[in-house]
Amino acid sequence: MCGIVGYVGKRDAIPVLVEGLHRLEYRGYDSAGLAVLRRGRLAVTKTAGRVADLREKIAGREKATGKATGKAPPGKGAVPGKGAVKSTVGIGHTRWATHGEPNETNAHPHTDSAGRIAVVHNGIIENADQLREQLTASGVRLVSDTDTEALAHLIAAELAAGDTAGDTAGDATADAAGGDVALEDAVVRVLAAVEGAYGLVVLDVAHPDQLVVARNGSPIVLGLGENEMFVASDVAALVRYTRQVIYLEDGEAATIRASDFHTTSLNGAAGASAEKTPTMVDADAGDYELGEFADYMSKEIHEQPDALRRALMGRLDERFATARLGGISLDARQLRGIRQVKFLGCGSAYYAGLIGAQLVEELARIPADAEPASEFRYRSPVVDPDTLYVAVSQSGETSDTLMAVQELKRKGGQVMGAVNVVGSAIGRECGHGIFLHAGPEVAVASTKALTNMAANFALLALLMGRVRDLSAASGERIVAGLRNLPGQVSRILAAESEIAAVAHRFAGADHMFFIGRVRGWPVAREGAQKLKEISYVHAEAYQAGELKHGPLALISPGMPSVVIVPSDDLVAKNISTIEQIRARGGPVIAVTSASVPDGLADAVITVPRAEPELEPILFNVPLQILAYHAAAKLGRDIDKPRNLAKSVTVE
Ligand code: AGP
Repeated sequence: MCGIVGYVGKRDAIPVLVEGLHRLEYRGYDSAGLAVLRRGRLAVTKTAGRVADLREKIAGREKATGKATGKAPPGKGAVPGKGAVKSTVGIGHTRWATHGEPNETNAHPHTDSAGRIAVVHNGIIENADQLREQLTASGVRLVSDTDTEALAHLIAAELAAGDTAGDTAGDATADAAGGDVALEDAVVRVLAAVEGAYGLVVLDVAHPDQLVVARNGSPIVLGLGENEMFVASDVAALVRYTRQVIYLEDGEAATIRASDFHTTSLNGAAGASAEKTPTMVDADAGDYELGEFADYMSKEIHEQPDALRRALMGRLDERFATARLGGISLDARQLRGIRQVKFLGCGSAYYAGLIGAQLVEELARIPADAEPASEFRYRSPVVDPDTLYVAVSQSGETSDTLMAVQELKRKGGQVMGAVNVVGSAIGRECGHGIFLHAGPEVAVASTKALTNMAANFALLALLMGRVRDLSAASGERIVAGLRNLPGQVSRILAAESEIAAVAHRFAGADHMFFIGRVRGWPVAREGAQKLKEISYVHAEAYQAGELKHGPLALISPGMPSVVIVPSDDLVAKNISTIEQIRARGGPVIAVTSASVPDGLADAVITVPRAEPELEPILFNVPLQILAYHAAAKLGRDIDKPRNLAKSVTVE
């Protein structure tokens, strides 16, 4: 989704902003822009293209005016030449169109008519039509179709009204006395009339030493530097410059200057400001570099053994054959009191939740299931106080999941988080839970985070099992099985070229089935999701037993099926499914840790045999590789699939 970056300090702001926008590209966007202050005026540059186009445009313009020279490498921004005027404050944005088509006019930043205010905004202003009508009625000419533009005009009008009031009262020092809070006050007053979700940054020509930011439902993080300050919607844009960050809460605004910042409440508590303790980001710029890999998805697939090791580190208790999850603030007695576990997440996080539910039922013998958070939040759920809800999210910012957590809390439900991004909204809202420790995930398609979600749920299931009836011997078996996972994933990765050959063979299909039963069912769903998301091949998952109730009618030579065959007591059933499909002329790719008869399937992808309960964790990996190579063969933009964003912070 949209990305925000802002800077105030001593450096040339343009390269900082362009670099920040480049780091946010992975979130998905359709246009980009930035605004800086130069010689007391706003200089705005926008493009309906990529960040690289924006950089070229800035460099070209600077060159034409003789103010800059040289070509910068991608993401490095324009290089000011000799005599260039340095801008030390500015804001930038990558836009994901919501109001109005993706074009240059609709790209952010948006300004007021006089060019005093520039605004970048993530989220959706729900009463934008009303605000735009009011502005038009008062004579303002709106140039874009966006909700954001209204904010720029409203803030400018609010400031102008304040200036007039100051003059009328003969208070020549109104702005100086109000000083740093004049802009912030105007922003807060305008936002009081705004409904919807936002993370925004405001730049004012008359306040060249500061930026005002506000958050309500869309992430905003401040980056603290040495006599410089950064702001972004995602730490990815900051880590090159600083790892010390402050996460703004919903309902907060802040004024940031090079030397300091203060926060204030948007909800009426005028001037109320909370003490903020900076958090150290658990990632550095290197984590966002591609290194030897062609794209982030491939990099992240290959990082899985290490990501798994991090997830398990210090969490396996060999002595008592259980798991240690210090982030969960429930003691053994409270854990025993849990009568049901429910996982809530969206997309792959939901599928990981399905794996988690199966693990909890198998190891702890507690009823468990998973539900898409996007459904849960809207269906007035019955919330049982003895159910443990687990909110699952890589980004920790997914709006549907965050709303589900808030709904749960309103209804008195017990909820813990399972999130990857430390400091993210869902983690903070839940207050306790498990960090996934997958490391930064950049590709839109979730791979290592999904694997770490499933591994963490195995730890949770083990812990819950051991406070109940899971024997020490069974606990030891699971602990040993978990320890083996990173090595087993490495073995799957070592077979990448064979899996790629299978992917290339079937990449031409327009449709594919993913078939699984019981442990193989969530794996099949996630496999279908991964394929469709990055290759645009239509893929559907079905439970093997459901085939004969309808989908079998679609089996034909043009409809390959990926059949999941774990080493459980359903191997014979799964073999019979393969036979049924092939008898109807359907090609089959068997993904299996069992021994399947020679010639049974058209292609076989082998998965190392693991403890049966843990096999779903492993089976995801070959399906990621399969999807990746199918998409590569079809020439897709793997890290940035069309219409998708990494972090879905709007409805
Ligand atoms: C995964 O490949 C998808 N891009 C998507 O389904 C994702 O898992 C979903 O949007 C949830 O994101 P989250 O984990 O950040 O909450």
